[in-house]
This record gives sequence, structure tokens and C-alpha cells, in this order.
Amino acid sequence: MKNSQKVFTGSVDKEYPTVDRAEGVYVWDTNGKKYLDCAAGVAVVNIGHGVREVRDAIYEQSKRVSYVYGSTFTSEARERLAEQIISLAPRNMEKVFFCSGGSEALESVIKIARQYHLESGKPKKFKVISRWQSYHGNTVATLSIGGRPSWREKYDPYMSDMPHIAQCNCYRCPYRLSRESCEYVCADELERVIKYEGADTVSAFVLEPITGTTAPAIVPPAGYMAKLREICDRHDVLLCMDEVITGLGRTGKNFAVDHFGVEPDLIAAAKGLGGGYVPIGAVLASSKVVDAFRKGSGNLMHSFTYAGNPVVCAGGSAVIQYLTDNRLVEASAVKGEFFLKLLREELDDHPNVGEIRGKGLLLGLEYVLDRKTKTPFPADRQISSRIAGYCFEKGLLVVFAVPGCADGILGDATQISPPFTIEEADMRKAVEILGDAVRTICI
Ligand SMILES: Cc1ncc(COP(=O)(O)O)c(C=O)c1O
Repeated sequence: MKNSQKVFTGSVDKEYPTVDRAEGVYVWDTNGKKYLDCAAGVAVVNIGHGVREVRDAIYEQSKRVSYVYGSTFTSEARERLAEQIISLAPRNMEKVFFCSGGSEALESVIKIARQYHLESGKPKKFKVISRWQSYHGNTVATLSIGGRPSWREKYDPYMSDMPHIAQCNCYRCPYRLSRESCEYVCADELERVIKYEGADTVSAFVLEPITGTTAPAIVPPAGYMAKLREICDRHDVLLCMDEVITGLGRTGKNFAVDHFGVEPDLIAAAKGLGGGYVPIGAVLASSKVVDAFRKGSGNLMHSFTYAGNPVVCAGGSAVIQYLTDNRLVEASAVKGEFFLKLLREELDDHPNVGEIRGKGLLLGLEYVLDRKTKTPFPADRQISSRIAGYCFEKGLLVVFAVPGCADGILGDATQISPPFTIEEADMRKAVEILGDAVRTICI
């Protein structure tokens, strides 16, 4: 089917293949070509495509009631989903604010954190510190805290002046230290910046506990996260996790922060929560945050028209039910280890593969021109997009990372993030195609 060319998309006049249907880990286009979805869309379709229980739940809810305003009525679906989310979350989480996606969730984190400090009698606190080579969404506020220079530069006139610190990236340590002896000096940078900015002006620190598409699957050491928690506590700064990609099992635990034994103050979730069936986002708020509202004005001055929509919540609830009934978080942990092993067997010796990394089914390959110096490829080689393009031709979907994982501008990588239902034969097939892609493109 030819495109209508009436849809205003990223590549303005490109002819996109038209999707026909999807089932499990496979997607078919209208020409009958079959794709193995090792992207899960973009780390969204965690439970796989076409799950009947989810479709049925959405249909049943839409027969009862599809919309009421969330500040007038609640619904059984919204209440059930909030309970399910809290039951999977770190112990200190108490309430869920609903919205329609990841950017809205991060925008809400910024605002809830700000209001928390107002309610607590600290009206000067508003700055949000975040990290370079991160992504927190595509609205103006979330781009301002985001760390993907190429996506920020065109909108620079609108950016709020929010401070950023370096990533914790042991493969490319900004301090050229080794993990064994570094004592997490990259976390100390947070404290330095809080002091420079003035602790009485800093509201929150936001990070992806394990990074997604900007620098796929960088896993920090547990000590780093513990130190961040201490620093935030010392300066009354809320520690906020962007778990839009990692939440709901992607890294083999309910939330990625669970790997580090740390309890954050706010968590944003989105992609896996709706599983691609419904557009949903959520902010989980800890009792510490909720209490400040309780003791203060009692009012959260923030909402969206579609927040907590009953049909959307019924879909999200069925996604979580399916995830837990089929023990898919555990599957993500076990299958992720196996997938990582296969990738290492195939590509560890390749001279242009710098690092193969990840946790659960959030895996990343970083490519380098020179393995010893870790020099990235020049931009005009377009390694990430050409590798993803090669895979696409061969019927394999992977996520190409926006260049910049090495220094913000350069650095090519691939994100592999399949549905948790992927089986061994498909993992082997994916690794074979990826291996061919790397050997063909990186010469
Ligand atoms: C870590 C992270 N945060 C926020 C977002 C923004 O989510 P959305 O595209 O649903 O607005 C994304 C999207 O890729 C993400 O990966």
C-alpha cells in the first residue's frame, strides 16, 4: 500500500512500510514480509503483540464506560491498576498519578517535585539536575532536563536552564578511573553541583537508573546509586527515577532501581505499563512526598484530560495481570542473561565492538573505530542507523541509538529490547543477523 503522504512524520516524504498485523514477537507488513521484533516497538511491547486477554479487557471496559473526567469519578479499572502498580513498586511508594505517556510522566515529576517543596515550606527549590546522555521526553520541560544535545539544539531558545552532570559510565569513565577504586566520584559531582547552584534552589535529581536509547543499557554499580541517595537526603533533593523504559520488568526486576537496593522518592513509568496496547504513563509517589501534600494544601495542582482514563487503565491492568500470571519479569532476567551470552559469543572478538552490556532484556552494543582507544566512528559513517537498516532489510527490528553515547555528539550503538516472551531460537536468529550486520557495516 502506498503512503498517503498526508501524515507529518519524522522523515517528511519517506515511504514507510505499512504494518498489517502482529502476533507474539512477530510483525508483518502488507507485502507479507515478516519481522522479528527485537525492539518491542521501542521497548514498549514487553508482553508481546496480540495478547487476547488485554484486547478483551479493553473491549469489555469500553462497553461499560470509556470516559469520565478523572477529577469527577474514579473507576474500578483505575483503582485496580494503581493497586497493582504499588504492589510491584519499592516499599516506600504510596500513590500513583496517571498520565498518557513518558514525557507527560517526566513533566509531572518536575511539577510534583516542585510542589512538594512548596508544600514543605521551601519555595526557592525548583531546579532539576539530570545527566547528560539521557533522555527524559520530548516536551520543552523534559527536553530541558534531557541530555541528548542533537534533540535539544533546535529548541534551545525555549530550554530552561537546568544543570546537568556526567553519566556514570564505567566503560568511558569521565574521570578515567576504574570501578574498583573510583569510590564513585561521578556521584560526588551531584553534590558539587547542588552546592554551586545553592541547595536551597535544587528540587530534584532525575536519572534513568539503567540508560535507554541515548546510551543503551549502561548499568551503574550499586554503590553509585547508594551515594546518590545519601547526597539527595543531605540536601533535601528528591531522587527521581525515570523508569519509562526500565519499569515493569524490562531489566529483570519490577523496577530497575530494585537492582540497587535504593528507594527513590518518585518513579516515572510508561512504556511497558501499557505494553503498546494503551497510551499510558504514571508517576509513583513515595509516602514522604504524599505526606507533604497531606500536611500542606491537600491539593495536587496538576492533571491531564486523559489521566486515568478507564479504558486505558483496564488495558494497563490486563497488561500487568498477564505479566505477573506468566512470570514475565523473571523471564526477562533469565532470557536477558542468555541473550547477552549469545551476543558476547558472536561479537566479543569483533574489533569494532567496544562493549556488549545490559541487564534483563535491555541490552546494548556500542561500536568503536578503535577498540583500544575507544575512539568512536565519525558521524558520516552513520553506523547505528546503517546497522539497524541492515537488520530491518533482513527482517529483524532493533532500536538504533541516537548517536552520542561516547561524548554527546559521537558514539554509535544498538539497543536490543525484545518482548519478554521471546524464545531461544529467535534470540539465536537475531544474534546471527546482528553479527552479519556488524561484520558488513563496520568494515
Ligand atoms: C527514558 C525515557 N524517558 C522518557 C521518554 C519519553 O516517553 P514518551 O515518548 O512516551 O513521551 C522516553 C521515550 O523513549 C524514554 O526512553
